[in-house]
Amino acid sequence: MNVQSARSITIQQQVTRTFHSEIIIHSGFLYSPTCLNYLRSFAKRHVLFCDPLVKQAIGDDWLNWARFHQIDVRMLTLPVGEACKTRKCKADLEDQLLTLGMGKEDGFIVLGGGAATDLIGFLASTYCRGAPLIAIPTTLLAMVDASIGGKTAVNTPFGKNLIGSFYLPSYTWIDDQLLTSLPENEWNNGCAEIIKYALIQSPLLFEHLTRWDKKTHVLDLIEQSIAIKHQIVSSDFDEKLGWRHVLNFGHTLGHALEYLEGWKISHGAAVAFGMLAESFISWCKGLLSERELNQIVDLIHSFSFDFTLSRTYSLEEWMTVILRDKKTRKAEAQCVLLKGIGQVYSKNGVYLTSVKPDWIGEALAWISTLNQAH
Ligand SMILES: NC(=O)c1ccc[n+]([C@@H]2O[C@H](COP(=O)([O-])OP(=O)(O)OC[C@H]3O[C@@H](n4cnc5c(N)ncnc54)[C@H](O)[C@@H]3O)[C@@H](O)[C@H]2O)c1
Ligand SMILES: [Zn+2]
Repeated sequence: MNVQSARSITIQQQVTRTFHSEIIIHSGFLYSPTCLNYLRSFAKRHVLFCDPLVKQAIGDDWLNWARFHQIDVRMLTLPVGEACKTRKCKADLEDQLLTLGMGKEDGFIVLGGGAATDLIGFLASTYCRGAPLIAIPTTLLAMVDASIGGKTAVNTPFGKNLIGSFYLPSYTWIDDQLLTSLPENEWNNGCAEIIKYALIQSPLLFEHLTRWDKKTHVLDLIEQSIAIKHQIVSSDFDEKLGWRHVLNFGHTLGHALEYLEGWKISHGAAVAFGMLAESFISWCKGLLSERELNQIVDLIHSFSFDFTLSRTYSLEEWMTVILRDKKTRKAEAQCVLLKGIGQVYSKNGVYLTSVKPDWIGEALAWISTLNQAH
């Protein structure tokens, strides 16, 4: 018998990808001649994705304006809010795009809040292995956070953002005039992420927020927030070094709450709740002073987030969900903690800290006493 030895070949693959991704922050940009020039050079045909509310508030008018200027653009609609972030919705849209014969040469444009930019970013990253994308965020939260940094995802019955990719749009256009139609609570949701930037990175921004006459000079706050996120993301784009984890402050408990509430609580309110809990845990660990904790509570409460839950969840229910988080290590919950206002805690260069269920239980009990007090 002739026995041939199996050959083993190892090929080292190294691919360097350079992305061109440009963020334009400009009041009134969406209806400018410059915008038309960008669209003309971006693609011959475009498809615009938005939900019915954004369509009514912005999409229809903008589509007519673009068509009036001979831009070839058609519209596909998505479900409103978090309901669009599903594998099914992505597959349905893909089928519609394939039916329309849209290919790699065509340009995708997403106009909407963070849910829409997350879904369409993910879709664009897989459609024909990568379709060119323009992101036009229409909520404050999407302007300062969701449309920046290239994280895209859908939710699954197992948890939030569990399936997704890193994919940068070619352009992100930020025009604060799109915020005129934004409901009050959506403003607050965006503020939650701005508070997050202040707490993890900027005592100055924190100061600014405590004195802020709401809704004024918003472009200034958007710019500061984007600068912080961009600086963090650019030094750890795919989260391999761990520094990018700091952006998850407030999100371990925040994401769990969104899941427990069946996505009925907004992301911003859930993150504000999570920031309270994770600040409290930071204080329990002796990292944050009582004065700093009180300052954080006062700032968060000044934004009147609605923390009303549909029912009380047991610690066991919380822990089941928290442990499914992508950040979980060795079956222990991981949180980003603060060691001051504008400073995150790290140990040996690691920004995630294991948090015992007891601490989470104490933080939840503390928040319910706070809610009664406010
Ligand atoms: N990828 C990331 O880095 C990242 C970061 C933060 C948040 N997110 C995700 O973003 C999502 C939350 O985004 P969101 O807070 O923008 O909520 P959202 O996308 O659900 O939008 C909120 C609501 O506002 C409406 N809306 C949007 N723009 C409007 C406008 N200009 N006028 C009137 N109504 C308007 C929408 O129709 C929707 O009903 C979550 O899924 C969260 O996970 C992602
Ligand atoms: Zn967030």
